[in-house]
Amino acid sequence: MNLSIQLAPKHRQGLLLANPVMTASGTFGYGTEYDHVFDIQRLGAIVCKGTTLEPRDGNPQPRLAETSCGLLNSIGLQNIGVKALIKEKAPLWASWQVPVIVNIAGETIDDYAQLARELDRVAGISGIEVNISCPNIKAGCVEFGANPESAGRVTAAVKNATSLPVWVKLTPNTADIVEIAVAVAEAGADAISLINTLKGMAIDITARQPLLGNVTGGLSGPAIKPVALHMVYEVAGAVDVPVIGCGGITAASDAIEFIMAGASAVQVGTANLINPRAPLDILEGIEQFMEKEGIEDIADLIGTARR
Ligand SMILES: Cc1cc2nc3c(=O)[nH]c(=O)nc-3n(C[C@H](O)[C@H](O)[C@H](O)COP(=O)(O)O)c2cc1C
Repeated sequence: MNLSIQLAPKHRQGLLLANPVMTASGTFGYGTEYDHVFDIQRLGAIVCKGTTLEPRDGNPQPRLAETSCGLLNSIGLQNIGVKALIKEKAPLWASWQVPVIVNIAGETIDDYAQLARELDRVAGISGIEVNISCPNIKAGCVEFGANPESAGRVTAAVKNATSLPVWVKLTPNTADIVEIAVAVAEAGADAISLINTLKGMAIDITARQPLLGNVTGGLSGPAIKPVALHMVYEVAGAVDVPVIGCGGITAASDAIEFIMAGASAVQVGTANLINPRAPLDILEGIEQFMEKEGIEDIADLIGTARR
């Protein structure tokens, strides 16, 4: 069976993954945290925690709140900063078989360009995912992702600053995600990932206060799957670069739905917090499905439910 997938077909070197299952940013740390749980080298890729120029402590606690079928988070991009990432994490990643993609976030377009420059040609880093979709920080980030013009400008700035393959991760918190996707594809994105979390909130009725220290947060998990699936379906029909589906993927059947909707690969997020082996279980479930259905190449599944 062939599960390999090219996720940057227009890029000079390309970005060939051994299989289409990767982890979603912010739910798998730097990969090292899960290394003892299962053989993470079997994954298609690992997308690390959102990285900024300077280290960040993130938002006030509490930063997580469970809802009936999803999770609210307001982490606020707590991370070690790009310099520590290059010094402390990348050397280890360079010895790994699984490619690591660095998710980047900034407050200005220059921040994104500088992050891309710093990550360029660092051994152990196989690509960049541009996060223009984090709903939990005050300045920048999601503001760029909510508007096609600024989304395109960030994409072009990052592309100009690096020779690495570049994916752009979109927010569902916008009037027309297809318009944003078309703009980032035209600006040179090698692939598009979607979706980030949906803005939401929860209230502690005894305290009569919002549950999250930041008042609002991002909703993820099974609650958002139908929304994410529909957005992937729409975007995949509008752009000519690979689409990476994300949002509520918990089982292999979820991942297969996204692939049938037109995604070339998938990211597993909140499911990692319930079952740390989830990405591997999902990969094995896809393999079993392909075997049962007599499908020899994952490419033959992509977009098969499209009308
Ligand atoms: C605790 C937590 C932290 C996250 N941090 C990031 C992040 O740093 N950068 C990013 O692009 N997305 C981040 N996300 C969004 C996820 O990568 C993913 O897009 C979203 O959760 C939807 O997928 P899921 O339903 O499988 O979790 C985070 C999500 C969670 C739950």
